[in-house]
Order: sequence, then structure tokens, then C-alpha cells
Amino acid sequence: MTSHSADTSQSGSIDHVLHERRLFPPSAEFTKNARISSVQQYEDMVAAARDTRDDFWRKEALEHLHWFEPFGDVCQWEAPHAKWFVGGKTNACYNCVDAHVAAGRGDKLAIIWEGEPGDQRKLTYRDLQIEVAKCAEAFAQLGVGQGDVVSIYMPMTPELAIAMLACARIGAIHSVIFAGFSAESIADRNNDASAKLMITSDGLYRRGKVLPLKETVDEALAKSTSVEKCLVLRRTGGEVPMTEGRDVWWHDVVDTQPGELAAVPLDSETPLFILYTSGSTGKPKGILHTTAGYNLWARRTFEWVFDYRDDDIYWCTADCGWITGHSYIVYGPMTAGATCMMYEGAPNHPAEDRFWDLVERHKVTVLYTAPTAVRAFIKWGDEHVDKHDLSSLRLLGSVGEGINPEAWMWYHSKIGGGRCPIVDTWWQTETGGIMMSPLPGITPTKPGSCTKPLPGVIPNIVDELGNEVDSEHGGKLCISEPWPGMLRGIWGDPERFVEQYFSDVPGQYLTGDNARCDRDGYYWIMGRIDDVINVSGHRLSTIEVESALVSHPHVCEAAVVGRPDDLKGQAIAAFITTTGRDTDDEFLKELKMHVRKQIGALAQPDDIRVTAALPKTRSGKIMRRLLRDVAAGRELVGDTSTLEDLASISQLQESE
Ligand code: WTA
Repeated sequence: MTSHSADTSQSGSIDHVLHERRLFPPSAEFTKNARISSVQQYEDMVAAARDTRDDFWRKEALEHLHWFEPFGDVCQWEAPHAKWFVGGKTNACYNCVDAHVAAGRGDKLAIIWEGEPGDQRKLTYRDLQIEVAKCAEAFAQLGVGQGDVVSIYMPMTPELAIAMLACARIGAIHSVIFAGFSAESIADRNNDASAKLMITSDGLYRRGKVLPLKETVDEALAKSTSVEKCLVLRRTGGEVPMTEGRDVWWHDVVDTQPGELAAVPLDSETPLFILYTSGSTGKPKGILHTTAGYNLWARRTFEWVFDYRDDDIYWCTADCGWITGHSYIVYGPMTAGATCMMYEGAPNHPAEDRFWDLVERHKVTVLYTAPTAVRAFIKWGDEHVDKHDLSSLRLLGSVGEGINPEAWMWYHSKIGGGRCPIVDTWWQTETGGIMMSPLPGITPTKPGSCTKPLPGVIPNIVDELGNEVDSEHGGKLCISEPWPGMLRGIWGDPERFVEQYFSDVPGQYLTGDNARCDRDGYYWIMGRIDDVINVSGHRLSTIEVESALVSHPHVCEAAVVGRPDDLKGQAIAAFITTTGRDTDDEFLKELKMHVRKQIGALAQPDDIRVTAALPKTRSGKIMRRLLRDVAAGRELVGDTSTLEDLASISQLQESE
């Protein structure tokens, strides 16, 4: 692989991707059995969702969600505020769990789980119903009720999904924090959301080692002002200190409940969860999703895009700490009644064939993973794949960043055996579910393109001023009409919500991505407009990392940019000025650890360069474009005449 191919946000690779001409139509066999099996069917849905939006979604909602009480208006839209299925009462946990038991499908497997050490558990929908009810009963005992925020910092065990669903069952709001974040990050999120309960485990397994989650949580809780109780799952069996009056064991307070509590009928717009994500400022935003619209969007996009069938064994390899895990491990597939694989650990433990071993043993039919994982598999070598029979697979998915054509081809031929369509799904934490993707029965795919919008998604490409542009040329990607799964706000910050997402083009949602639409109506995502970088499919704001660096007493100024990386898509490159302290390797190591401690391992800079001064424009802005070139080892191009300190540039280049 060439170094630029992994990074679609760099101009070199945009050309590369956009000149992709190969077309892969679905096989007649796949099309014949597909849920959406003709272009006409898709076009009719698109037209209905566009021209008769309310009728379209009324029918969808009545058919695909359970209603305790009917809704009135389908959509009330006063940009940027949307209400869907107004006045209706439903419950996302009921839709995910109880509905299947009520319909006589209680014996169907909901979760096939495998822990990293190889332990296994299988839960039917009926099992899940009992476990979720027990957890909800424990919440009541711990003083948690409707509207309270519950922070979840857990390994990928069934209890993580159970805890999320238990919140939904009673109208508590979950805020899942990926179990790689630092104590600082947990405390920030707890405080921002005024979380009342924290759920964690003694530890988690990662590459054969135990990571001490409870220790990190204890440190976080010392700084979390609102958290009253901490519920602890025993996973690894290690000794952990329990704080009297605050900490309780899962097996003491959850497992001992009767498991009878019914799902509470909740208003359609009841907050379902908050999920923190990076934006263009240093402070992560708590993206708010509500009950009915999100639930419907997750379900229908899951069924359309993954061509869901009752006998599928579906595996999304994401962690529930990210939106992909929320929508495509829990709410989408479970509302559809799917059997979901869930895996706790690393893809290369005990060996690099762990995923393929899982696919073979559990006969996985649909696999949804990220380009960064695909690139790692390529690097590890085909021999790990060749050992296994992957013939159960019928469909492959990709999410998190653009999948470069080389990785696409490998995924297609090596994993998919040339027979599985690939759905390259474009979406965001804010959109709640997939927005653009091939429909596997009908859409001829082009490697590197997320192809076309799903029904109900109306993309619009605009220029700097918000005017519509020639979409072949490309520009900022907006969505011009509301859709059921859209975010409803930023927790505690209504102004930022409007300013960030709806101020560029009045009334339209600004995605933050650049995109281009080709002559066939296929969309190509060209990377972020803002200061967000995408490291292994995870969103980070450069400013967040800069703030962490500057909080070190010996760092004066910091500038962080993404640089192309074969494996991660983008790596983090930092440029700093210091107080003059000796800047040896020890110091750089200490700084990396400092960022790790402030945000988490995923934000640790890959390289840090110390410089006498950062290149700035005359108005004092750091010239990031230039630093990106330096970080990528590219020749400096363009106009550098406004540089205040040219000397610093030559020094940066020398230090490479
Ligand atoms: C990027 C993840 C190209 C994009 C679901 C978006 C993609 C950000 C794709 C959202 C894709 C995600 N092709 N780019 N198929 N999928 N992205 O909120 O820049 O973690 O804005 O949601 O990831 O990241 P988030």
C-alpha cells in the first residue's frame, strides 16, 4: 500500500479514489433473495420518503415499533428542532426485547457472546428480558429513575448491552464511555451530564492482560460531583477496593432481583442516550438521541443495509462505547430480532486469526467492521485468513472512515470470496444511523464510494458561503430535511447545537464532511472540514489533544495535525514549543503519557516535535496546512508568504 492511499482527506488520495472506475454489481443470486431487490423499489421508497414524508414514516413507525399509545403528528420541524411521532408512547427496550417474547420468538438467540479468554455465553430474547428487568429493578433500588443519567464504562460483555437496555426500560439516559478513556475524560463526562450512577467492572481482558477498569473509575469518581452509586460487575476476578456506601456488586444487587419489571411506556421524545463525541473545539459534545425516531431509524437502516434475514448470524465488531455499537449491536439488530455476535477482546489474541476463527465457529453470515481493522488484517498476512472456512459469510460492511480501494479489494476477494457485496456505510454519531450506503441487492458498488442516500436522506453539497455548488466539484455536505434518527441536541448546550450544525446553511444540518457526487449520483466522502481527525475510525479533535499537551507545565504552545498512516488512516502529529526544559526522549515519552492520562490511549500522539516557534500567519493563526505537509513529509506547497517565522519551518523539516 502507498502511504497516501489510507487517507482520503489528503488531496493526493482524493484523486486516486475519485478516478476509481471499477463497478461491482450484486450477483443475480443475491438480488433474487434480497429484501430490496429492484432499483424501482428503492426509487419508489426514496420518492415516497421525499414527497410524502409524513405518510411514509407513519406507516414505517406503525409497522416496525410497538406503540403503547398512538402518536399524532409524524414530524414537527421548526429547524433545527425536530419532534417525531409526537405524543406517542413506546419503549426502545420493549421493542428490542419484550416484543420478540410477546410474539413467540422468546427462544431465539439474541446474543452469542465470546470473551477474550474463550468463555462463551448465549442469551435468548427471553433470557435477555429477565436479565434486563433485573438490572432495571436494581436501578430502582439504587435510586435511579426516569430522566437520571447512568454512565457506563464496561468491557464488551452482555452486561454492557443489558445495562443500556435496562436504562431504556425505565427511561433513564445512558451515557456509555468507551473503556479506553482516562479517569479525567470519565469525570468530565460524568460532570457534564450530572450522572447519578456509574456502572463498571473490576477489569477487562485485552490481549491476555487485565486492564484495571475499577481503579480508573475510582480516580474518576473522586472528581465526579454528581455520582452517588457505583455498580461493579465481576469480570476478571481481581481484587478491587469497594467504597462503603457507594460501591455495590452486580451479583449482589442485580442477580438477586425477581426480573419482572415491565417496560415503562415513554413519550416518543424521551431522551434515550447521550454519547460524547469530538467536535471542532476541545470539549467533547454530549450528542442527544431520543426514543422513537432513533429506534425506528436504527431498525430500518439495519434491515435495509444489511438485508436482514431471520437466520442471519450478524456480527458488528465495534465496541458499544461508540455509536456503531449503540445502533448496530444493540438498538437496530435487536429491534429487528436478530441474533448478534458479541466479542470482548482484541482481533489478534491469542493469534491474528481470532476474527476468522469466530466467523468459522459461529457461522457468521454478516460481518460489519472498520477499514482500520481491514488494513491490519492485510498487514498480518493472508495465512491467518486461509486457515479458516469463511463460506458462511454472505455480506460485508464497513464503517468509520472511507475504505481505500486497495483495502476494499482485499476485503472483497479475501474475506468475501468475491461473492459478498460490501456495504460502505457513511454516517455519524449525530445522524443516529446509516445515511448513505449501497443496498446490497441492487447497488453496483464502486470501491471507495458510500454510493447513495437511504430513503429519507436528502444530501446537499454547498460552497463556503452556503450556496449550492456543482456537486461533481464537491463541497460541504449538508442534509436538507429532517430524518427520524437525527440528533436532538447537545446535552446542556442548546446554543452550540444551533451554531455547530445549523448556522452555515439555515435550516440544514451541516455534517462537517466534504463530499462530492459523481455523474452516476454516487457520493464520495472527502474528509472533514473542521479540526477533527479520524484515528482508526475514532473521532478526535486536534484541539482536544492540544489542550492536553498544553496542560503539561513545560509545554507553552502546541499544534496537532493528522498525518496519513497506513494502518490507522490518520496518525497524530504534534508540534510543540517548551519552556526550555531538556527535550530528550524521556520528556517526549512523559508527554505522550500525559496525553494518555488526560484523554486516553487513543489520543496519544504518534510523534511529537519540539520547535523554537510554530509557524503562524500575520494574524497569529497557526498554519495547520503547512504543518500537515511537514508531518506528512511532503514538499511545502502553496503560498507561505504570510509566515511570520519562516525559520521555524526549515527547522521543523530538519528535525524529521
Ligand atoms: C467519518 C461513525 C467516509 C466521517 C459512524 C464522519 C466516514 C465521521 C465513513 C463520523 C465512511 C464514517 N466513509 N467517512 N463510510 N463513516 N466516516 O461520529 O468523517 O464516530 O463525519 O460515527 O467518520 O464519525 P463517528
